[in-house]
Amino acid sequence: MARVTLITGGTRGIGYALAEALLARGEQVALTGTSTDGVVRAEHTLVTACGDPGRVAGIVCDVRDPASAEVAVRTAAARFGGIDALVNNAGVGVGVPVSEMPHEEWDRIIGTNLTGVFNCCKAAIPVLRQRGGGWIVNISSLASKNPFVGGAAYCASKAGLNAFSEALMQELRPDNIRVTYILPGSVATGFSGRQSSTGADWKLQPADVAQAIVDVLDHPARSLPSRVEIRPSQPAKT
Ligand SMILES: NC(=O)c1ccc[n+]([C@@H]2O[C@H](COP(=O)([O-])OP(=O)(O)OC[C@H]3O[C@@H](n4cnc5c(N)ncnc54)[C@H](OP(=O)(O)O)[C@@H]3O)[C@@H](O)[C@H]2O)c1
Repeated sequence: MARVTLITGGTRGIGYALAEALLARGEQVALTGTSTDGVVRAEHTLVTACGDPGRVAGIVCDVRDPASAEVAVRTAAARFGGIDALVNNAGVGVGVPVSEMPHEEWDRIIGTNLTGVFNCCKAAIPVLRQRGGGWIVNISSLASKNPFVGGAAYCASKAGLNAFSEALMQELRPDNIRVTYILPGSVATGFSGRQSSTGADWKLQPADVAQAIVDVLDHPARSLPSRVEIRPSQPAKT
């Protein structure tokens, strides 16, 4: 049976590249985003590329909202008869000093990058248990261990995600649910309002991170790569 993967934030960037990679292997993908237009567009282009509307489900979901996360998991499971992997990829960030950061911005970053992952995991764990096991892959960042000025909220959210993932990995191992967190360096996407082509010559491409995730998902049942770092092989030219 083809694997079913639910990808949060799958409408562009790394999540979209992962959806493309999994569909190219004949697998089934549910992807989410907060923008209805973005979800419809991503679903349409992915269906066109793979030629099989039965293997793609676009779901509008804001991971910050526990009820919305619950609906996304239930919808994906109902559509495909269960879920084998949850990839918590949805994330946001801004470069704003703490002294200038509005409370709402702090809440948005922590709410998406940390609480959002908790919401999706909490919703998915019973579904994965029902399946007899599976994967949870959390997309962290090298910024979690290399904090920078203006990145306090983002770096804290991702450092928290690392600790969350380590604890969850130990909690769920007995249930045959493997938890991995992946720390990418700079990836050429439109993250945080950037031009996705800026610096794209030295940065990782979204497909590179997608490949790392697919490699993890392919590990044999006895093996759990729990933390993966991936960075550009050549640093930025200054
Ligand atoms: N790009 C990098 O250099 C880099 C490096 C290290 C780690 N990462 C991490 O990799 C992940 C993906 O980054 P990316 O560069 O691919 O970002 P991106 O291109 O900006 O895509 C972000 C995705 O997340 C969705 N999203 C944002 N907020 C959401 C929410 N509250 N609920 C559900 N979906 C939401 C977006 O859809 P909507 O806009 O429709 O909500 C979009 O599909 C993030 O966790 C990021 O922190 C990125």
